Amino acid sequence: MYTKIDLEQISTNGPAPETEPERQYYFIKKCKEYVEQKNKELGRSLTCCVQTFGCQMNARDSEKLLGILEEIGYVPVETEDADFVIYNTCTVRENANQKVYGHLGYLSNIKKKNPHMLIALCGCMMQEELVVEKLRKSYRFVDLIFGTYNNYKFAELIWERFDSNSTIIDIWKETDQIVEELPVERKYPFKSGVNIMFGCNNFCSYCIVPYVRGRERSRKPEDIIKEIQELVADNVVEIMLLGQNVNSYGKNLEQPMTFAQLLQEIEKIPGLERIRFMTSHPKDLSDELIEVMRTSKKICCQLHLPVQSGSSRILQKMNRHYTKESYLALVEKIRAAVPDISLTTDIIVGFPGETQEDFEETMDVIRKVRYDSVFTFIYSKRTGTPAAAMEEQVPEEVVKKNFDRLLKEVQSIATERIERFQGRTMDVLVEEKNEQLEGYLTGRLSSGIVVHFPGDESLIGTIVPVKLEESKGFYYMGKRG
Ligand code: 5AD
Ligand code: SF4
Repeated sequence: MYTKIDLEQISTNGPAPETEPERQYYFIKKCKEYVEQKNKELGRSLTCCVQTFGCQMNARDSEKLLGILEEIGYVPVETEDADFVIYNTCTVRENANQKVYGHLGYLSNIKKKNPHMLIALCGCMMQEELVVEKLRKSYRFVDLIFGTYNNYKFAELIWERFDSNSTIIDIWKETDQIVEELPVERKYPFKSGVNIMFGCNNFCSYCIVPYVRGRERSRKPEDIIKEIQELVADNVVEIMLLGQNVNSYGKNLEQPMTFAQLLQEIEKIPGLERIRFMTSHPKDLSDELIEVMRTSKKICCQLHLPVQSGSSRILQKMNRHYTKESYLALVEKIRAAVPDISLTTDIIVGFPGETQEDFEETMDVIRKVRYDSVFTFIYSKRTGTPAAAMEEQVPEEVVKKNFDRLLKEVQSIATERIERFQGRTMDVLVEEKNEQLEGYLTGRLSSGIVVHFPGDESLIGTIVPVKLEESKGFYYMGKRG
């Protein structure tokens, strides 16, 4: 991870260094000088706001964007009436794109009132050519646009915008580069996401991610371990290892390493208490990993294992490389090794050609597996993916009806599942003050379940035993045990 750069030591007189991350430090310093000058002219501090759409990966990227903005002197604020607003976008479903266009309309009005305001867009949606074309034509007030491959260049791009006073657009088609040691400002002091790999090689037929995040690239284990050690030294007790498909970690390293081996190395880090990871593709979940999960003292009792559909016929059309039967067998194996485990999943309703029989197979899987929670999605057609060219799109009313049925079933199972812990005393990582209940704190069990209990704010960031007194459907009320 990043240790504060000594900007005093960096000279901006000569040309920018060619190597990374030194090149970015140089531009951070140049931007900082510019922001200081602006602050002086305006007699106030310039403010910034980072808004994130989409997944945990984007949330982590946003912490890196904020790290740079703070380093160059912007003061973060929660609202979008700031001097620098950046949207880190998602494009996994069409409604994510619509949200961004909606927000941009609102931002253009704010910009009319603030001549110093800059608007930037980055992330997955920017990797789509049609989107950038539309922005170029109809959203000319946007100042800076970049994609997923070159976000490490954020400081350099901001400098280009400061320097040229015209819109900067920089979108790459791919990269094999991973730049380490850049600033990052994390949201929680006691927990953090840690990228272990970028990109995805799976090409599930509905999914746009491989096209906008590129091929799999794993970070070197020593860089990951060093980052976690530094996080732990800075009071982090829980980490979430992030990757589109963590089970294929390490395949493309010079010295290949499995995800299970990486986990064993991370487990050894003193002071680290909890390890989570996502996302696991069922086709790559190894016996070695199950064994590591079984014996680990730190890996949390939770696994996100997206099934997407319960129908083997649809799974094949989705290019998922497993069947209903092999998925259920895998679940059984995991449950035999880690009996208390909380399983969660993603399900898509309305994939092209999904019949009522196919949907009933999905209902059958959720009843058999009994997930602790399920993220349910209505299929969204993504231009450029193989599924977008498939005929037999399912009528909207059918999708809606099935979706509602699925949701009801999922919720009723989750409510039943959570009760298995009733009366037990379990470790809770205290995350925040409860805003609704005076004198209460909110935290999470290893399984991810939320617990509210009375306690003092000084406990935030620590792990304490809590007696789970009353299940409230999807959370617990408890008391310090
Ligand atoms: N439509 C609906 N849901 C999708 N997902 C990915 N692509 C699509 C799509 N085109 C869902 C999958 C994935 C989750 C992150 O988003 O369930 O696991
Ligand atoms: Fe998309 Fe499949 Fe890759 Fe997940 S594994 S990001 S669903 S292509």
